Amino acid sequence: MPRLNTEKGQPAGVGVGLRSKYHQQFLHGTPKIAWLEIVSENYLGLDGRGGRARESLLQIAEHYPIVMHGVSLSIGSVDPLNLEYLHQLRSLKNICGAAWYSDHLCWTGVGGENLHDLLPLPYTEEALGHLCPRVQQVQELMGEALILENVSSYLSFAHSEMSEWEFLSELVKRTGCGLLLDVNNVYVSAINHGFDPMRFLNGIPRGAVRQFHLAGYSDNGTHLVDTHDHPVWPPVWSLYQEALRLFGRIPTLIEWDDKLPPLEQLLEEAAKAEHLMETYDSPNASRASTMVEVGHH
Ligand SMILES: [Fe+2]
Repeated sequence: MPRLNTEKGQPAGVGVGLRSKYHQQFLHGTPKIAWLEIVSENYLGLDGRGGRARESLLQIAEHYPIVMHGVSLSIGSVDPLNLEYLHQLRSLKNICGAAWYSDHLCWTGVGGENLHDLLPLPYTEEALGHLCPRVQQVQELMGEALILENVSSYLSFAHSEMSEWEFLSELVKRTGCGLLLDVNNVYVSAINHGFDPMRFLNGIPRGAVRQFHLAGYSDNGTHLVDTHDHPVWPPVWSLYQEALRLFGRIPTLIEWDDKLPPLEQLLEEAAKAEHLMETYDSPNASRASTMVEVGHH
């Protein structure tokens, strides 16, 4: 097993998603990027294909800080938590030396069925009562804080009693979990539901945000979908600048999952984010003169 380079440090600045398409470039060179995020499930070996991918990951992890991002926790479901999955997650985290692990604040199925979608929850006291002990159970099993990402949504529940940002804040307060703030998802949901994305950002507790995501959505005419198959759109870059101003230089990931571009193009997107980040030295730094209006594209 390759030896992990413990000198490589924590993720800081801007990273990109490590996808199998890019493995060879990372195995045979050291593309210039600060850190990498993996989709945990691709390396768990649950589909019988994880072995070789895991070997590549361990070699790549010698040179780059890694963070893990999962899609199967289904923290919001009423099914019991999958303990075997969590056990495998912890083992993967140990062997690749990932700095943290995250998943989504959503449910992906019920009754053992996986719907392969990240479905939103109603924002109610009842949902919080269901979620909090589950988050605590995950944190106890993993031995550290769970980091949860805001998902984009296209529908909302009529019986929601609070806003998404109030719900996230309560969850943080009650469980001590961290947040992965997906700036693209904030924008997509803001347009789809007609709220001001700044209300969302202003409503999130400052200290809880551990990571940002940036991605490209698709415009379906009537609503936006977070397809992660485009460059980041201008209004999301603007909102990212607001997020940097409010939260500081939080490690940022360019998420691109479909119609993957050449690695060089992905690294150019990362360089853009890095450039914006450099403009914001500390929380509450003054706005850059390049600041543009946050609004619909
Ligand atoms: Fe995301």
